[in-house]
Amino acid sequence: MASLQEQINIYEQEINAFIPTADADLENYRIKFLGTKGIVKALSAEMKSVPPESRKEAGQLLNAFKQLAEGKYESFKEQFQAGANKAQAIDISLPGTPLPIGTRHPLRIIENKIVSIFEKIGFNVATGPEIEDDWHNFTSLNMPQHHPARDMQDTFYVSQNPDWVLRTHTSSVQARILETQPLPVRVICPGRVYRNETISARAHCFFHQCEGLYVDKNVSFADLKQTLYYFVTEMFGADTKVRFRPSYFPFTEPSAEMDISCTVCGGSGCNLCKYTGWVEILGCGMVHPNMLRNFNIDPEVYTGFAFGMGVERITQVKFQVNDLRLYSQNDVRFLRQFQAL
Ligand code: DAH
Repeated sequence: MASLQEQINIYEQEINAFIPTADADLENYRIKFLGTKGIVKALSAEMKSVPPESRKEAGQLLNAFKQLAEGKYESFKEQFQAGANKAQAIDISLPGTPLPIGTRHPLRIIENKIVSIFEKIGFNVATGPEIEDDWHNFTSLNMPQHHPARDMQDTFYVSQNPDWVLRTHTSSVQARILETQPLPVRVICPGRVYRNETISARAHCFFHQCEGLYVDKNVSFADLKQTLYYFVTEMFGADTKVRFRPSYFPFTEPSAEMDISCTVCGGSGCNLCKYTGWVEILGCGMVHPNMLRNFNIDPEVYTGFAFGMGVERITQVKFQVNDLRLYSQNDVRFLRQFQAL
C-alpha cells in the first residue's frame, strides 16, 4: 500500500490542476475531497495505522494537505460567488440593446391579402407538395403525355425519378383536392412553383401562384366573373375595371384571361401597362369535364370554376416592383419598403 506521503503527492497534483468551469464541478470537488466520505476524511482515518514515532510528521503532512484542499475550494467558491453577484448586478433601468424587427416579405404580404380576401367569401386554404408526380401536375389536368400544352411550361424534372417534377403551377393542388375532398369544394391554394427559365427582370426559375377552385352543383361562368370582380375591388379598389379575354388552358373550357385597368395610369398609358391601359393578372375558366371525370366526378351533375394568378405579378402591380430578381436577393433596403395591407 502506498505511503501516506505518496498518496498525498498524487492528490496534490490533482488539486493543483483542478479548474472548475461550473458550480457543479466545484461541488463534485467538495464531495470528493472534503465530504464526509471524502479523501481528507479517509486519509485521517489512516492515521491510526501510522506508528507512534511517525505520527507527528504524518499529522503535519495531513494538515497541510487539508489546508490545500480547503483553500482551493474556498478560493473558487469566492470567484463563483463574485461572478454570480456581478451577473445580478445588471441595472435593469438601463435601455436594452435594440433588436431590429424584420418586415414581412412583399410577396407574403400580397399572398396573405389574396388569401384573406377569398377566405371572407368561404374559400379554405389548401396546399400541396412542391415535388409533384406527372399525374397531379399534368395528366389529370387534361394534359396527357405528349400533349402540346406541356410545352407551355418549361419543366424541371427530378433526376431520381422520371415521374417526378418540380410543380410548374399550383393547379396541381386542384388535382389533389378533387382526389381527396368530398364535394362541394371551395379552396384557395397559395404556393411556390418552378420553371426552367433564364433568370431576368421578367422571369425567374421559381415564383409563386395562388390557385382558386370552386366545384359544386350549378356553378356558372357568371359566378367566376363575380368572384374575380369581388377580388379585384378588394385588392385594387372599387373603381378598378376588369375585362375577360378568351384564352386556352387544357384544364378549363371555356378559358379566359382577366385584365384589370392599369392601377398606375388609370388607363391613359404607362410603362406598367405597356401603354395599353390594361394589365393581365390571371388565367381562369370553367373546370374541364375531362378533369372532373379523371376524379370520378360527373360533369353532368357538377360544374366548377378555377383560376390561377401569379403572386409576383399582383405584387408588381400593387407595389410597382419592376424587377423579379429583387424578391429573392434578401436586400433589406428593398424588403423594408413594404407595409402589411
Ligand atoms: N396554371 C396556369 C398557369 O400556370 C394558370 C391557370 C389558368 C390556373 C387557368 C387555373 C386556370 O386554375 O383555370 O399558367
